[in-house]
Amino acid sequence: MAAESYQQSSAAKPDVLPKPGDAILDLGCGTGELSAYLAELVGSKGYVIVVDPDLSRLQLAKEAHRHVKNLSFIEGNSDKFEGMGSETFDIIFSNYILHWIPEKSRAFRNMFDSLRVGGKIAAQYSDIIPPFMATSYEVLNPERFEQLNNMFHPVKRDDVDLLCVTAGFDVMKSYSPKYTRDFYPSVESLLQWLVGTTHGVFDLHLVTQERIELLVEKFGNPPFDFTTNSFDCRLVAVKPKSQTL
Ligand SMILES: C[S@@+](CC[C@H](N)C(=O)[O-])C[C@H]1O[C@@H](n2cnc3c(N)ncnc32)[C@H](O)[C@@H]1O
Repeated sequence: MAAESYQQSSAAKPDVLPKPGDAILDLGCGTGELSAYLAELVGSKGYVIVVDPDLSRLQLAKEAHRHVKNLSFIEGNSDKFEGMGSETFDIIFSNYILHWIPEKSRAFRNMFDSLRVGGKIAAQYSDIIPPFMATSYEVLNPERFEQLNNMFHPVKRDDVDLLCVTAGFDVMKSYSPKYTRDFYPSVESLLQWLVGTTHGVFDLHLVTQERIELLVEKFGNPPFDFTTNSFDCRLVAVKPKSQTL
């Protein structure tokens, strides 16, 4: 079952869960595990629209969850997505995508315009580039260091809250969990993750044995456990009834 596999694979459970019959948008699907979990929760009377700008990821997610009937995978992004402006969604999930979006105020406005009154956004994001990632880029891919760093647009939690309120939302919850767990059993698993999370911009051809040894000098021998004080943030906000004077 999708719910079970999501629960087993994910350390981070959503702060808000949909109910049967809900209309859900999952903005930025990755492998689609969360999307399939949500589809199971909304049941046959509800639906989940999943958008992602990365066509190869979208295709992989679609293939992995093709048996799920109430799940639609559609190319899109925070500026242009199926149902944008429709005021129909009950919840919009954005799981680890805010730090990918350079222009966040527009993204919040688009989400606001797509939710029904009383609808919510549930977001998880990083407010910095995790130090172990920055070090890995610097040591293993110095030629691409700038490009890799520039892919991410992390913003501090207070500023995200402000963007959210400016778009019209009431913030219900905004917090950082105590710690962020990042664990890699081997050098290969870390490399795989660096390639995957940067959509292939991190280049394995640039990773020499000498560079790996330098990294191990800095991190110690694998397994690499980068569990640390949290740089993850979580946000739940609601679209309020319009204020009449
Ligand atoms: C770290 S993955 C998270 C995937 C998934 N939500 C999860 O929790 O596993 C980030 C995803 O956001 C997508 N993304 C990047 N920019 C985006 C944007 N402007 N709007 C929507 N999705 C975006 C990427 O293609 C990628 O699939």
